[in-house]
Amino acid sequence: MSEPIYDERYARPGLYWGSKPTGLARDVLRIARSLPRSPRTLVDLGSGEGRDSIYFARRGYRVLGVDISSVGVRKAERRASRLGVNVRFLVGDIRTYRLSRRVDVVFCSGALNNLPRRIRAARFEHFKAHTAPGGINAMNADVPKPYIPPYSMNPFSSPFRSGELLGYYGDWQILDSGQVEFVSNASGVPHRKAMDVVIARKPDPDS
Ligand SMILES: C[S@@+](CC[C@H](N)C(=O)[O-])C[C@H]1O[C@@H](n2cnc3c(N)ncnc32)[C@H](O)[C@@H]1O
Repeated sequence: MSEPIYDERYARPGLYWGSKPTGLARDVLRIARSLPRSPRTLVDLGSGEGRDSIYFARRGYRVLGVDISSVGVRKAERRASRLGVNVRFLVGDIRTYRLSRRVDVVFCSGALNNLPRRIRAARFEHFKAHTAPGGINAMNADVPKPYIPPYSMNPFSSPFRSGELLGYYGDWQILDSGQVEFVSNASGVPHRKAMDVVIARKPDPDS
């Protein structure tokens, strides 16, 4: 269970991850503009303090943010309400959380590594099955690199194999995929990270 680590981080004043949206969230909006039908509904898995959920909601999406940290969820709710943005957040575990209906976008930035390997295939099947035809999944996952010293702020996370994330979307249209490398300073200890990124579109028989 990883929530005590994040609870402790989110209980500190200020925003642990900052207020700016992730690059993945910005990429989703850019790509959504070129889709035949604009996405309207989005679930943000591992929504943290809500920076991306709020970003999407401000741009007209109906958003549900799900995070295991109740401290993060309450902080996200308070921030959204302070900003006058309508977003629903709930405490949930992405290892077991079941979407009750289809959404246009399943989004997950920075949280997939909390999925143990043995349940990943089943979880992706669930996320894909609960995506509307023509909708998208936008995901990233930490991957180890031989030239980057291992560093994890979360002892419960397990890395993806390089290319593993893309492999879950072999039957979808790949709109964007690749690897990003950057220096993260969120913990106060700068460290390099590599992430695989995938934005994939579910086939739509009507388009
Ligand atoms: C690296 S943070 C990213 C937060 C947010 N997506 C962002 O970019 O600001 C990872 C998030 O995943 C959440 N998390 C970890 N394990 C989880 C789980 N099993 N179910 C749901 N959320 C989880 C943590 O509480 C944390 O908020």
